[in-house]
Amino acid sequence: MYVNMKYILDAANRDNYAVMAINCINMEMARAAIEAAEEEHSPIIVQFGVGQMAKMAHPSEMVPMIKAMAQRANVPVCLNLDHGPSFEAEVDAIKWGFSNVMIDASSLPYKENVRRSRMVVDMAHANGISVEAELGHVGQAADGDGRTADMYTNVEQAVEFVKATGVDALAVAIGTAHGKYPEGFVPKLDFQRLAELKAALKMPLVLHGGSGSGEENIRKAVAGGINKINVCTDAFHAAEKAIKAKWEAEPNTDYLGICMVAEKAVKEFVRDYIRLIGSNNRYTFDAADNGSKE
Ligand code: 13P
Repeated sequence: MYVNMKYILDAANRDNYAVMAINCINMEMARAAIEAAEEEHSPIIVQFGVGQMAKMAHPSEMVPMIKAMAQRANVPVCLNLDHGPSFEAEVDAIKWGFSNVMIDASSLPYKENVRRSRMVVDMAHANGISVEAELGHVGQAADGDGRTADMYTNVEQAVEFVKATGVDALAVAIGTAHGKYPEGFVPKLDFQRLAELKAALKMPLVLHGGSGSGEENIRKAVAGGINKINVCTDAFHAAEKAIKAKWEAEPNTDYLGICMVAEKAVKEFVRDYIRLIGSNNRYTFDAADNGSKE
């Protein structure tokens, strides 16, 4: 069933678990993610951003394909625009058929972040589409971001922000960063701040930069109130590792064989992640009556 993100995250918030949001740049990744979710009876969020659209995943091809897979699936599937940079990008995404949009104005001054997020909420909600915004700023692991509290989400400001914008989910900065950390580095998350944010907001919270965070941090983040975890780098890495291993073991493996190996590796990675963050066995729809409205 194809649903908006509010449908998925309100349930996760109520029942204290998190849902994986995986960046999918092609059909094989999206299919792997959705099939793993179905086998685990878990909701799933498929997402991609404008950079990935430009390089790999044009929405005119990806959106109808993912929607078709979602409508056939017997678990809730959302398609999210990751890090939408502008109002125009959000309008386009909604026209293409995404069921959630993220507006990321987190590197702009607070007032401008409120103004842009509010505009997107008004437009998206009028179309039945839910919205994620970001306050504080989750930067890049390669730049050493996330290690000091200067970009972390301020609790009082977050309460004001949610009230002023009406967003459905809030991405918070508590110590993670996007991309690959230096070898051996495990981020230190501010769980005290997360507890305060959850107590004050009581709404779905999102963790960006899930890759390389370590299982213990991820488990604690879910226990502390994170309901959506964004994962990109680790999913690519799972595919890369499997491809390298296959070619080392069987150098004559052809393109078809390599595509299949990559898809299987992503599927196994998603399955394990779903179990780690506790979204398995949350939906038990009969496949013949999948509850889809479309
Ligand atoms: P990672 O690549 O660090 O998993 O970050 C993904 C992300 O947060 C996408 O918004």
